[in-house]
Amino acid sequence: MSSSTSRTVAEALRASFVATVASVAAYYLLHALIQSFESPGPADKSKQSNDALARFKARNPGIRLSLTKYENALMAEVVSPDDINVKFTDIGGLEDIIDDLRESVLYPLTMPGFFANNSPLLKAPKGVLLYGPPGCGKTMLAKALASESSANFINIKLSTIADKWFGESNKIVAAIFSLARKLQPCIVFIDEIDSFLRERSSGDHEAMAMLKAEFMTLWDGLTTDGRVLVLGATNRPNDIDSAFLRRMPKRFAVKLPDIEQRRSILELMLKGTILDSDFNYDSLALKMSGMSGSDIKEACRDAVMVPAREFFKDRYSDGKFDPATSEESLKMRPLRTSDFFVETAAVSTQIGPALD
Ligand SMILES: Nc1ncnc2c1ncn2[C@@H]1O[C@H](COP(=O)(O)OP(=O)(O)O)[C@@H](O)[C@H]1O
Ligand SMILES: [Mg+2]
Repeated sequence: MSSSTSRTVAEALRASFVATVASVAAYYLLHALIQSFESPGPADKSKQSNDALARFKARNPGIRLSLTKYENALMAEVVSPDDINVKFTDIGGLEDIIDDLRESVLYPLTMPGFFANNSPLLKAPKGVLLYGPPGCGKTMLAKALASESSANFINIKLSTIADKWFGESNKIVAAIFSLARKLQPCIVFIDEIDSFLRERSSGDHEAMAMLKAEFMTLWDGLTTDGRVLVLGATNRPNDIDSAFLRRMPKRFAVKLPDIEQRRSILELMLKGTILDSDFNYDSLALKMSGMSGSDIKEACRDAVMVPAREFFKDRYSDGKFDPATSEESLKMRPLRTSDFFVETAAVSTQIGPALD
């Protein structure tokens, strides 16, 4: 090989090396860029916090609120009562629980004077637990409590906190309680509380165990006479640490609805839907045995699709509405009980004969 050829080869090699390095660098740069667009960075989170703080101040003119860095970060999780669109009247069949929650949670939050002045036994609980199978209204109850008590509502997902604030999570836990005190009356709502307050085990990460201990100490230290309340909800009460359970002496079982409750839920769901004169709530409520509130809601959605689909078939062709369709003729036929028993395409393809 002549020296000029070997120089050319060396140059070619160098050029291809440079090209490779450049493309690898470009790849990482692009990757980082894409990631920075995809995941909301700390900047987004702090904007959320600042917005929430601004809204809180607008709602409470004259309030002087000085927050630490951690409390400020938590402001993003504060929901104002006006932003919650669930009322007790939207919840079907849970009147007994609602009455009890009114007395044990709502009144102490809104009338602390009454509770302080009459008897030391009339103390609000520091913790309330809602438990029962999924989809039966626990989260709804918590939201309705917040909106009807006009209390501030800190909606906490402790598992996210433990992950996101790893190493600083004990400061965030402290901030939960200090912020709640500053915003009182305040409900600290911990949904899926079992994911955080599981029975402590030897396999627990040491930091996690310390976090739980810290949480309990702060919880015990709450001395705000019922104006701060920890409200937990769980599908798995048996998984909750017994030390935590003791701190939630008020416990409400939100069970699968019975026939009467299913009927109330059905009535709520179908409010605003035009029903056939033969529509039979009782037979539906009977047949829906074993279904949760959210199952019933889904069943209603599927059923209403039946007359809607008929309407579309009738009036829609080639992707266009029949030009003769006027505003007032945009009415589908009333809903029938039998619409609840129509198999949808999705179901029939699953259980029907194999397709050729
Ligand atoms: N008792 C009920 N009354 C009215 N709607 C209900 C009821 N229970 C459940 N739902 C419906 O199911 C959805 C899920 O309920 P949710 O409160 O989130 O259940 P949980 O927290 O118990 O798992 C609600 O948004 C609501 O639409
Ligand atoms: Mg829930």
